[in-house]
Amino acid sequence: MKTLYLTSKENDIKTAAQIILSGGTVAFPTETVYGLGGDATRPDCAKKIYASKGRPSDNPLIIHLSKAEEAEKYAYTNDIYYKLTNAFCPGPLTVILPKKDIIPYEVTGGLDTVAVRIPSHPVARAFIEACDVAIAAPSANRSGSPSPTSAKHVKDDLDGKIDALIDGGRCEIGLESTIVKLKDGFAVILRPGAVTEEMLSAVVPVRRDGSLYVKPDENVRPEAPGMKYRHYAPDMPVTLLKGPHNDVVSYMKNRLEEDESTGIICLQSDEKYLRGKNVKYMPNDAAGQANSLFALLREYKGTDAKRIYSVTPSRTGLGLAVCNRLTKAAGFDIEYVGITIPVLGLTGQSGAGKSTAAKYFAKLGAYVCDCDEIYHGMLYRNSPMIKELKKHFPFAVKDGALDRPALAEAVFSDKEKLSLLNSITHGVILDEVRKRLYEAQDKGYKFAVVDASQLFESGYDAECTAVIGVCADEETRIKRITERDGISRQKALSRITGQHNEDFFRVYCDTVIENDGDEAKLEGEAARTVSRYIKE
Ligand code: TXA
Ligand code: MG
Repeated sequence: MKTLYLTSKENDIKTAAQIILSGGTVAFPTETVYGLGGDATRPDCAKKIYASKGRPSDNPLIIHLSKAEEAEKYAYTNDIYYKLTNAFCPGPLTVILPKKDIIPYEVTGGLDTVAVRIPSHPVARAFIEACDVAIAAPSANRSGSPSPTSAKHVKDDLDGKIDALIDGGRCEIGLESTIVKLKDGFAVILRPGAVTEEMLSAVVPVRRDGSLYVKPDENVRPEAPGMKYRHYAPDMPVTLLKGPHNDVVSYMKNRLEEDESTGIICLQSDEKYLRGKNVKYMPNDAAGQANSLFALLREYKGTDAKRIYSVTPSRTGLGLAVCNRLTKAAGFDIEYVGITIPVLGLTGQSGAGKSTAAKYFAKLGAYVCDCDEIYHGMLYRNSPMIKELKKHFPFAVKDGALDRPALAEAVFSDKEKLSLLNSITHGVILDEVRKRLYEAQDKGYKFAVVDASQLFESGYDAECTAVIGVCADEETRIKRITERDGISRQKALSRITGQHNEDFFRVYCDTVIENDGDEAKLEGEAARTVSRYIKE
């Protein structure tokens, strides 16, 4: 078949709609990635889509609508659906709902549910409106390869296999939509995307499916059937490297010296150290990484790279989606460098009982590194941290000592200054953490625990084998804080309202330990966590 190439002009959109209404397939741009569309009410169209992608037919398609209310025709909606769509749609969110009969099982891969999405891209919207029917569309790539973020990517994969392609330029986000299913009043994240946990949890309580970045159990059917396939992968194997960034960079350098064709995905800021024909650079921020990742993975096609090594980004916010796609591209192949003993990150809300949990990990043989203690240990006159702070906040250092109230006041309402302050303190603290972990490793410790309330904010999660969250209900935390720090209930309350809620830890941590004050139970949980993450 000959593929028709269309622009986003009105007449071309009309032509595209006619192709859909006569049962054809059209690839079109969305704000996330390009989709390959067909009439969502026709089994034959679904079959055509699967055939041109080479996709297994048990992997269901998303239906695309121009307005949230149109879902009534195709699915059984509910309050949470409207809460979510009012907040985020049109936009990069997909919601799973029970399907109505008008949607054939060919579209849903045999499931009784259907995935619904209302894209915001103006061309996608004009196209869907012109069709006046729901458009079933997976990403417009060959099954298994990275999703297309430009018309050229679609052409490379599907030229001659689809009826038409609308060129709408590059996709703004670059990673597929966030998928949620609704369960017991929660939005459960099945696939992370640009609508992040923080955004969702402002509207409804959020949980995540277990398999976002942990290898799923092969005997369990995943919630989103598409999540079980090796995805987003170039032709050669991908390995994620975890460890102190300096160690990751030297490891990459060594691999390049052995074989100059080695594929390397590193950060823009590593360009001075890492160069080579198959070295690619990702921006340092998560939005930039999301936007460039798929295009970059595609660039390896046809090169002589035998393996690709990639850095591992931090996983909060949009970083969760970047990590999820990279982990899948790597088929869960992760290698630790520099610090090779397992490191459990321990984090959670104040008063939840992290330190008590840490005590039980120590009892189980862990080397424990307490970031609060490191921070306080750096408050002596003219410490390296204070010297560094003096460069950027000269008014907050007097006679080599830190004037903490002055510093707090300066960053209180200035986000940029706060993030500068954090990057300085986190950097100094993490350097000390790493130094201590090298020593612990040399001394023969089998594993380590890093107790850090700002674990995610500092990006240290990217270096951990697993991140453990400690949670407790609000009353319990307030009671502990008032008793421990001798402050009023009011003060304790204002301290914890500024912190992440429980959903944050439930989504981003690999596992959560509930600490209701029963220490025997806490000890048991610590033991269970160790047996799960620390292999003999
Ligand atoms: O951003 C996006 O979502 C893009 C653009 C084109 O809209 N589409 C996209 O579609 O990424 P696709 O087919 O590549 O990924 C759809 C994912 C698959 O992992 C599939 O298993 C899951 O959604 N899915 C679809 N219907 C489902 C259902 N009823 N229950 C659970 N998961 C479902
Ligand atoms: Mg896809």
